Amino acid sequence: MSNKLSLKFSSLTAVALLMTLGACSSSSSSAPVDLSPEAAAGREISINAGCASCHGADGNGRIGPNWIGLADSQVTLSDGTVVTADDAYLYESIKDPAAKKRRGASGIMPSNKLTDEEIASIIVYIRALK
Ligand code: HEC
Repeated sequence: MSNKLSLKFSSLTAVALLMTLGACSSSSSSAPVDLSPEAAAGREISINAGCASCHGADGNGRIGPNWIGLADSQVTLSDGTVVTADDAYLYESIKDPAAKKRRGASGIMPSNKLTDEEIASIIVYIRALK
């Protein structure tokens, strides 16, 4: 009887602990990885410009492709060409979303009015997402 009671108590403690941990990570608005001030600024811009609604608040992808590990990776375009996602590719993808389409992408990216400086910050942020 007392054994059963202590078992119940310890599992309750575990549940409470998990809930505390969960609440802690979901209420935090900072990024899960350590970002340089410039990368953090890029993250803010991508959230304010609506990019995060498709690419995820942490770049983890939703309708739009995942940004984590994107920089310098090989990307297959809809016409079968394989390109490296270097700075020029990332810049063009943001400046002129219709220019190149990723094979298998499940949506259309709208154009935006970001300045070159803002795009550069977002690229620093994308580069920080390993
Ligand atoms: C409505 C959803 C949507 C929004 C908003 C959006 N994107 Fe996209 N994005 C996409 C989709 C879908 C693709 C893949 C198709 C393509 O390449 O055009 C894409 C592709 C990209 C790529 C190339 C990724 C790759 O894997 O090749 C980059 C970089 C990018 N978006 C950045 C941005 C930035 C920066 C913003 C904010 C200004 C933004 N996107 C807003 C949907 C979106």
